Amino acid sequence: MLILGIESSCDETGVALYDTDRGLVAHSLHSQIAMHQEYGGVVPELASRDHIRRTVPLLRRVLADSGRALDAVDAVAYTQGPGLAGALLVGAAFAEGLATSLGIPTVPVHHLEGHLLSPLLSQRPPTFPFVALLVSGGHSQLMRVNGVGRYQLLGETLDDAAGEAFDKTAKLLGLPYPGGPALSALAEQGRPDICKFPRPMLHSGDLDFSFSGLKTAVLTHVRELGDLDGRQRADIARGFQDAIVEVLVKKSMRALKNCGLTQLVVAGGVGANRELRRQLDARARKTRIDVYYPEFEFCTDNGAMIALAGALRFQAGLSIKPPGAFAVRPRWPLSELTSN
Ligand code: KG4
Ligand code: ZN
Repeated sequence: MLILGIESSCDETGVALYDTDRGLVAHSLHSQIAMHQEYGGVVPELASRDHIRRTVPLLRRVLADSGRALDAVDAVAYTQGPGLAGALLVGAAFAEGLATSLGIPTVPVHHLEGHLLSPLLSQRPPTFPFVALLVSGGHSQLMRVNGVGRYQLLGETLDDAAGEAFDKTAKLLGLPYPGGPALSALAEQGRPDICKFPRPMLHSGDLDFSFSGLKTAVLTHVRELGDLDGRQRADIARGFQDAIVEVLVKKSMRALKNCGLTQLVVAGGVGANRELRRQLDARARKTRIDVYYPEFEFCTDNGAMIALAGALRFQAGLSIKPPGAFAVRPRWPLSELTSN
């Protein structure tokens, strides 16, 4: 089976082809970062318009790279939500229109399920069941993943998502959008333990997170210092990153212990953070656990993870629908998929 995947939930247009026998056949991505940068964040209307411009050329490239013809596609998977309403509508309308013209079904996909399953695209994939730490711009969750569509929420953020905390703190330090990568690059130059920030909810006994207090602690510190020089900014970035990474690592370890599992999957944009990977790998060496990451290019939004999630759903006979009518779901808790 050949599944076409389309991602358009935010500021990346992604198109990919996944073959259920051979794996990922081709994928192509356009990032809108440069376009949104001058506004300091994503402008939803500009995002939607750009998805319209990019989707067809990306599809053409994927078909050319794969050497497959459009009529070889068996189903079209696309991100139904969560995300920006207008941006989602572009991908959904395109996918449904294309599937209608080809007379094939569609598979609407939950964006977070794409992130969750993305490590299955790597050379060394995890096996079910595993614990997933999902840390993106909009979500921070720990989940027990029993199989495709079988997810159990273990804990989540009560306020800001980890990526959101990175982005807001980066803005505070005058770094460009998107803040996460810029802040983590600056943190690499900072010294440890110069700025000690709180580790929110580290000892709460549960698997929930809270990051808005950490962001406020950084804000207060920045205000106290007044004009910052380069070294101070790097030390603050380091202190912030160390705090957030420690919380994510310790809660992930607790989740594994509570579930009696030994495989941890890290997904979502913050999963690209090098310090997070270093700390988790250090824990894995010390204890008997295995940590799995998506390839760097599949950490942030992409079409490959949507094609993969669509293919796995298609094979499992889940979410397959006739093409035509559709609705996007800008807000869509993952827990609505299933909970076993
Ligand atoms: O998964 P993603 O591409 O989009 C959402 O579904 O939200 O995640 C984007 C988030 C942004 O907040 C971005 O700043 C963060 O991931 N991010 C990082 C890094 N790379 C991306 N945060 C920390 N360190 C990074 N290296
Ligand atoms: Zn995402």
